[in-house]
Amino acid sequence: MNARIVVLPGDGVGPEVTNEAVRVLSAVASGWEHHFDLVTLPVGGAAIDVSGTPLPAATASACVEADAVLLGAVGDSKYDAGGPRPEQGLLELRRVMGVFANLRPIVVHPAGARVSPLQPARLAGVDLLFVRELTGGIYFGEKTRRALPQGGDVARDVCTYSTAEIERVTRRAGQLARSRRRRLTSIDKANVLETSRLWREVVSRVVADEFPDIELEHLLVDAAAMHLLLRPADFDVLVTENMFGDILTDEAAVLAGSIGLLPSASLGNGARGLYEPVHGSAPQLAGRDEANPVGAILSAALLLRHSLGLEQEARAVESATHAVLDSGMLTADLALPGMEAAGTAAMGGAIAERTARSAPHSARARQAIHV
Ligand code: IPM
Ligand code: MN
Repeated sequence: MNARIVVLPGDGVGPEVTNEAVRVLSAVASGWEHHFDLVTLPVGGAAIDVSGTPLPAATASACVEADAVLLGAVGDSKYDAGGPRPEQGLLELRRVMGVFANLRPIVVHPAGARVSPLQPARLAGVDLLFVRELTGGIYFGEKTRRALPQGGDVARDVCTYSTAEIERVTRRAGQLARSRRRRLTSIDKANVLETSRLWREVVSRVVADEFPDIELEHLLVDAAAMHLLLRPADFDVLVTENMFGDILTDEAAVLAGSIGLLPSASLGNGARGLYEPVHGSAPQLAGRDEANPVGAILSAALLLRHSLGLEQEARAVESATHAVLDSGMLTADLALPGMEAAGTAAMGGAIAERTARSAPHSARARQAIHV
């Protein structure tokens, strides 16, 4: 197949981890006879530095026209002082691409379980999928700040959700639950927030009317934060609004042992998607060949699955990744004390190599990694 993929390396460790994901995608293209047209463009702080804006018009239009977008990470404290922020570029990109459903799957690999602070018994059988609403809520509401006459400022962030916004993300979550264990947990703060009361009402109705085969549970976000650590294996698909999803998915990353392992896919109505590791830009690790490329590589696997419909290739990348972790090759976030850690490029190279080996045209695929 032919596909147009925009690569947005972004800031911090973003360029290093996306570079490894691109090597894996190159192995897939050569190994399975696809043609991926890859275009690399600036976003975030990297874009502010060259053009003064975190999402240049050329980047936005290329992303809207592409089949899929692979992003590294954005953010750096050097932009805290004022002016445009790198994160605004990512939020604007999510909005212009219309990717309202952010899928964050969490499975526990033994290499991660070993470094997780949670007891192994709690982690057995954990396989959950967060569906975070991504283009609404407090992230996108009006933000104001003004000085008060008596001194000091007052700031305001408005949280808004419409029935239609809740319906579409619930449908995505329902479809995903149907392809899994048919359990859906909806998380809100309906005892306090009006947006949450609407959320609960709409989720209940959509599931009752359109997904009667799915078992629905509602949890308040504070309780959910606790239940995620107490009974993580009970959850299948969890659907929640934008900010609760942001917070709970970082918490849930602890189950996997390292946030560096986790991928995400952001989808709208069609097949086009935005794929990024869940981890941030980690500026302190940038340029040191220390970041874990697995989150970015597994995001590329999700890209193959959800945007290009290449299920077999997606599974090949996922199996290669698990095989390399099983072999004991581990980046610094997963290495036990006294162990020698693998660098970003070595880890990515090993996964690309294993992916290539499993391809129908493996010799050609292996060459593609090394160019
Ligand atoms: C994430 C990040 C972003 C978010 C930031 C960088 C804007 O934390 O993808 O989870 O809050 O959505
Ligand atoms: Mn986050």
